Amino acid sequence: MLSQRIKTLMPYVPGEQPRDRRYIKLNTNENPYQPSPRIRDFLRTFDPETLRRYPDPRMTALRQAIGRRFGLSDDCVFTGNGSDEVLAFAFYAFFDSDCGPVLFPTFTYSFYPVYCNFFDIDYRTLPLGGDYTVDLDAFAVAGKSCGAIFPNPNAPTGIGLPLDRVRSLLERFPRDRVVIVDEAYIDFGGQSAASLIDSYNNLLVVQTFSKSMALAGIRLGFAMGAKPLIDALFTAKDAFNSYPVDTLAQQIGVLAMEDRDHFDEICRKIVATRERFGETMTGLGWRLLPSQANFVFASKPGVPGSQIYNDLKAAGILVRYFDKEGLRDFVRITMGTDEEMDTLVEAIQRLFG
Ligand SMILES: Cc1ncc(COP(=O)(O)O)c(C=O)c1O
Repeated sequence: MLSQRIKTLMPYVPGEQPRDRRYIKLNTNENPYQPSPRIRDFLRTFDPETLRRYPDPRMTALRQAIGRRFGLSDDCVFTGNGSDEVLAFAFYAFFDSDCGPVLFPTFTYSFYPVYCNFFDIDYRTLPLGGDYTVDLDAFAVAGKSCGAIFPNPNAPTGIGLPLDRVRSLLERFPRDRVVIVDEAYIDFGGQSAASLIDSYNNLLVVQTFSKSMALAGIRLGFAMGAKPLIDALFTAKDAFNSYPVDTLAQQIGVLAMEDRDHFDEICRKIVATRERFGETMTGLGWRLLPSQANFVFASKPGVPGSQIYNDLKAAGILVRYFDKEGLRDFVRITMGTDEEMDTLVEAIQRLFG
């Protein structure tokens, strides 16, 4: 009854969304603030009559709004049902094991090997540097590959790379192989590679509405790159689902993209919380990797990450633990509101001294 494929398929396991009790939820890098207030006003007056029709399969208005924000033509923008879907189409469209494995860091977004498994693409992981930084020099000299992908800032470390390092990789990487920069967390202090798109036609920059725009529930992500790359993503989409981005999501996405003031304000607040929380935790003897994201990767010498995770969960606070060699000392903590972080700090002092 089941296909051979499904029997060996390895699903991605997202962070918990428990319903058993109320938690302070700091485990899936969601935004603690409201999305643009323009969305609330829009939903109040939204006419369900428009839902009789299928959505625009080209997602034109949304792609135009993104293009305006980044100074790109809408030909250079693709949108999808969350950046997870955009990434899936990109793996399908650009990575082909016949040309060699796709390269990504050893510790990174754990969906990448899942896509490789799904689309039957070989991959090769490259170790992080001793300071947990993604080592782009290793990518440049890795030899035969069908392309590369890395998040900037990386997940789950939160460490960002300056634009120069990305440019230097692109200078050295074969021009006929696609490099994907997954910028899910770029708006919390990183330097986007979107400005390099005009210079490198093998660069695809992927971003999301889930984090900095507080819209994880609407499922919107986008890719920016040279037109042939975007056309290839449309081909993949049109062979799979004509309408992955629904009418509401398209309109809400435009409103979020255009409300620059709200976006700037909530990003600024999250960065300020991260800095304040970082200082407090360092003062308490914790080690935090330097983060440019809306989360920190933190460890307490002598206390295993699993214990930190379990004790905090019992205290009603959810963080993320990765049961993986090399990461077991750490937990990943999403930035909540200042009040939530204060409650976390109190719990940490009580539980771990
Ligand atoms: C590095 C990275 N890329 C992409 C995503 C996917 O985000 P979404 O599908 O919500 O746009 C995530 C989600 O946590 C992520 O951490």
